[in-house]
Amino acid sequence: MPDGMNVDYDGLIPNNVGLADDARVRKALETWHPGYIDWWKDMGPEGFQESLVYLRTAISVDPKGWARFDYVRMPEYKWGVLLAPAVEGRTIGFGAHKGEPVWQEVPGEYRAMLRRLLVIQGDTEPASVEQQRHLGATAPSLYDLRNLFQVNVEEGRHLWAMVYLLQKYFGKDGREEADELLRRRSGHEDTPRMLGAFNEATPDWLSFFMFTYFTDRDGKMQLEALAQSGFDPLSRTCRFMLTEEAHHMFVGETGVSRVVERTCAAMKEAGITDPDDVAAVRALGVIDLPTIQKKINLHFSLTLDLFGNEISTNAANAFNSGLKGRYREDKLDDDHRLIDATYPVLRCVDGAIVEQHVPALSALNMRLRDDYVVDCQGGVSRWNKVIEKAGFATRLTLPHVAFNRRIGEFAAIKADTHGNIVAHEAADALPSLDDNLYITSLMKPVSETGAYAPWIAAPKVGIDNKPGNFEYVKIHE
Ligand SMILES: [Fe+2]
Ligand SMILES: [Fe+2]
Repeated sequence: MPDGMNVDYDGLIPNNVGLADDARVRKALETWHPGYIDWWKDMGPEGFQESLVYLRTAISVDPKGWARFDYVRMPEYKWGVLLAPAVEGRTIGFGAHKGEPVWQEVPGEYRAMLRRLLVIQGDTEPASVEQQRHLGATAPSLYDLRNLFQVNVEEGRHLWAMVYLLQKYFGKDGREEADELLRRRSGHEDTPRMLGAFNEATPDWLSFFMFTYFTDRDGKMQLEALAQSGFDPLSRTCRFMLTEEAHHMFVGETGVSRVVERTCAAMKEAGITDPDDVAAVRALGVIDLPTIQKKINLHFSLTLDLFGNEISTNAANAFNSGLKGRYREDKLDDDHRLIDATYPVLRCVDGAIVEQHVPALSALNMRLRDDYVVDCQGGVSRWNKVIEKAGFATRLTLPHVAFNRRIGEFAAIKADTHGNIVAHEAADALPSLDDNLYITSLMKPVSETGAYAPWIAAPKVGIDNKPGNFEYVKIHE
């Protein structure tokens, strides 16, 4: 068995990092554990803490069988510390240290930068749990309720993953940062989470699906970039987190797809030929396509801000130092140093949007964002297939990257969803109060097995191949 495949599952903290023989780190994690459980009970899913939820738990890092499905009470979930197996002879793949053996300890000169990367990543994990904590009360089915909780417990595990690295490799500062990760609160006036999109509310299930599609996908991009890291424990951690992350985006993509499917079916049944006839569509109790488009506009633009400034010396430093690579760096065919390379960036010059070629090293945020946009388009195209199949001409689109931005080149201008600079942002490109109230009015919980709220279609297949009437959450047991 390759190094790291054996998981010690019996202790308080399942792990494949040898905690049993590492008294210092084990003690630090065991000291942190009660605060985590308190945080989970206070800020994790509201209600349902005593319910039995059919969850998967990571019990191995073998790609062929890493998860076990069973009924679990969420506070008893086994949040483990799991690293993907070490790759023998792995070398640093990019930057100034390219070709040197990967680091097993933190290089002193990069300590501060690495700590910051871990804290920023770590902060997003509990933030999304906090954002989603009220959604259980309005779940459209037990299937969806279970998926929400699956995402939540895994974000909890991702917090553990970052806390382990902080406590193992950063001593006292690491322990302080780990405590701070439990102290900040999404949307809190005085102690907010670190990044904007993680302080926004997730008030309804369409928002949840949009969040897991668009914002968890930012998480994927960041994890992919960190999975390339020359700091091997970080690389291994992120590689395993990515296996879980895929499910979060699946929940988002299929969630939106099922909403679109139900809307199209209802329009067809009612003989509606104009999907833009919002009043007629809403009279059917489903979510009209124009509102879905507005939600896309909102969540996509908020998430683009997470990539930071297009031109960034921090990003260049993180790459040069070998800490954070590009998306799938190991599949790219260039010198992986980028000393003389350039990259095209959309910039705002004299009030116009123009493309400029800038040093590739300074444009790494932009590049990751471009890869993200391509990745986002896949699901949107599949949603459009559902609309097309139903016989409607409407197509959902990603708005232009300049639309509704608060960070970077476009923060200073106003652009419409096509990227035209305008004097005033159009009021109809983002969800209005009315739109949100309408969505909220649909959010009525459905808890009979196999039943779904009338605004969303049933999924094509069950979780873990369970049949349609499976009781994914035993609410009162
Ligand atoms: Fe995560
Ligand atoms: Fe996630």
